[in-house]
Amino acid sequence: MRDPGGETEGHRYDVARRVLSRIAHAVAIVGAAHGGERSCATGTTMYVSLAPAMIAIAEHTGSRTTRLIQGSGEFSVSLLHDSQQDLAVAAGKHAEGPDKLATLRIPAVEAPQGLVAPGVAGSVAILWCRVRETIATGDHLLFVGEVVADRVDEHRRDPLLRYGRRYMRIGHWTSEEAPEGYPT
Ligand SMILES: Cc1cc2nc3c(=O)[nH]c(=O)nc-3n(C[C@H](O)[C@H](O)[C@H](O)COP(=O)(O)O)c2cc1C
Repeated sequence: MRDPGGETEGHRYDVARRVLSRIAHAVAIVGAAHGGERSCATGTTMYVSLAPAMIAIAEHTGSRTTRLIQGSGEFSVSLLHDSQQDLAVAAGKHAEGPDKLATLRIPAVEAPQGLVAPGVAGSVAILWCRVRETIATGDHLLFVGEVVADRVDEHRRDPLLRYGRRYMRIGHWTSEEAPEGYPT
């Protein structure tokens, strides 16, 4: 049984629980669609190129969302707002039916023209990506996607975070906004 947080596989996931949990992440919902099915899964992302803009997501091989990304060659990443924790919890579990978003009543944003992956309404931002590389990494597949469309909500700036096996809110800033360069 795959249960990274549970007692049954505590030893196998010990390093993940102790150390990987200390990597602070924005919480995202990854969306995908293919062959009449739509799915989504809670996850995280990082950028791996600035120009072209590219991000990576690591999706476990047993996930329906993974299968739909492989079939369609694309995915969406919706960066969640800190008011959307309930959606993160819901999308992190398996759900029946051909449309996981409909089953879970997750409000969808339809993909821009020429794309198929649904986004999540009310997010800080939605990034639509075409898969450029797929790399097997341990028990996950790493999908590297080029951002081909995006939508940013300037009124929703507070991201939902995941850190130390908890959901969290962001604190206050500790510097002025960088005019250029890092932090991006
Ligand atoms: C906060 C959080 C973060 C998660 N991050 C990932 C991740 O990065 N990669 C992954 O494969 N699963 C991750 N999961 C688990 C998936 O969301 C979960 O396996 C989901 O049920 C997959 O759904 P699907 O089978 O319908 O695609 C995460 C779950 C939560 C709650």
